[in-house]
Amino acid sequence: MAELVSAVFGFELTVFAPWATACARQFCFCQVFYFLLLIAFVMGWVCRKCGNRASFTEINTIKTEVFQEKESTRILGTRDEFTGGAPLKACCSKCGNKDIEWVEIKAPKSGIDYHLYNITNAQTQFEFIEPTVSYMFRAPHPALENESYGAAFCKRLSREGKLSGKITEIGSGSGWFARNFLDKWASCSDSYNNSAYCMLDLSPVLLQSQRNLIKPHRKHVSFLNADMLALPFEDGSVEGSVISNEVIADLESVRIKKEQLDVAASQDFRAKESLKRIEKYGISLKGLPENFYFNLGAIRFLEELSRAMASGSSASLVEYGVYKKSNPILLKHRGEIRLGDHFECSILFEHLEKAAESLGFRAKIEPLLKFLDFDKSVEIISPQYVNFLRKKLNYNISFFAFTPEMLKERVSPRDFQKVVFEKAGRSNFLNSFFALQLEKQ
Ligand SMILES: C[S@@+](CC[C@H](N)C(=O)[O-])C[C@H]1O[C@@H](n2cnc3c(N)ncnc32)[C@H](O)[C@@H]1O
Repeated sequence: MAELVSAVFGFELTVFAPWATACARQFCFCQVFYFLLLIAFVMGWVCRKCGNRASFTEINTIKTEVFQEKESTRILGTRDEFTGGAPLKACCSKCGNKDIEWVEIKAPKSGIDYHLYNITNAQTQFEFIEPTVSYMFRAPHPALENESYGAAFCKRLSREGKLSGKITEIGSGSGWFARNFLDKWASCSDSYNNSAYCMLDLSPVLLQSQRNLIKPHRKHVSFLNADMLALPFEDGSVEGSVISNEVIADLESVRIKKEQLDVAASQDFRAKESLKRIEKYGISLKGLPENFYFNLGAIRFLEELSRAMASGSSASLVEYGVYKKSNPILLKHRGEIRLGDHFECSILFEHLEKAAESLGFRAKIEPLLKFLDFDKSVEIISPQYVNFLRKKLNYNISFFAFTPEMLKERVSPRDFQKVVFEKAGRSNFLNSFFALQLEKQ
């Protein structure tokens, strides 16, 4: 484990050192997913003088020193309040012109193209573009009883008798999740000896990173470069447990107007496909705003799982989104966000629950904090302060859920005072995640 810890924190000082400065200007996923959810518009800045819109700055947020800077725009200063898209103090990164316009933008590429061709470096992807919770907790952490996220996940499945021997992980990202999961499995259960862990991903670059990270477990692991919406498995052949951690928000979501719910009249095939499913699965739209995003891709994934999974098998899908008692503001302002060159959309878990039940699953949804038994009292850095430290105070630090004790070793006492920590149980970021657990009947 010590080797793992040093691997995690080692790269922030070594491999990553040259990257940090170069990438600092185009990064910044990190305004906490919660804030991203609040202000999720498919919008961006374009320069009125030189027309630069290379890559948009679509998000700028609330009260804190939090902002997202992309290739087209340089941030000169932040504002106090979120004002719904009025320009903040920013200029074009190419010509320096301050006359930049906030415009609606079209999706640059399909999610498929993005994951196949645009991901070029696994570390950059998860450090700067889309840090995931499993990445933030990729080393043992006091909030998880000194386990990493992947290990805590393994413990949870083990407790439920779901570590039978076969795991299929869909959308395995950097590979940290699998590495930690397998390390734990090897140390806690004999079933590891006969285990088969399949890692499926669309991105060849991420698959390579996965191969490198899981080396100690190589003889138990197989890899598939495939699309999760067309799983390369025979009907009813996937046994054991399926895991998909922070993936389904990557799949297509479709903007639907409540006033246009007539399937026959719909002109747009994506809307048509969505409306068909709303009708077929009896999905209620009560409480949703007039325009809302339907998680078409996530529901198509459930259909694919229902086809491929064997009876008696199970699946755990973790993602950020809204569920029954979620803050209504999140529901109202839910929408697509742009991370790097792809879009994500928060998940309406009630819709997935309803579709899953119609598809022959027993479905249960739990907040992630409960699912992995987080110690809610442990303090962690508010995620936007990782970027604050990187950008404002020039620290070369990795994206990690630092506790005050961990951070004290990395920053000066003066800078430490400027950082905000929050209890895990009160973290808007962690509270926005849910685990959908499925059992195929
Ligand atoms: C946000 S990352 C999550 C990675 C990892 N599970 C974690 O927790 O850090 C999403 C992952 O899903 C993969 N992915 C996205 N769309 C996919 C698709 N249609 N089929 C297969 N994999 C996909 C991406 O390449 C990436 O590895």
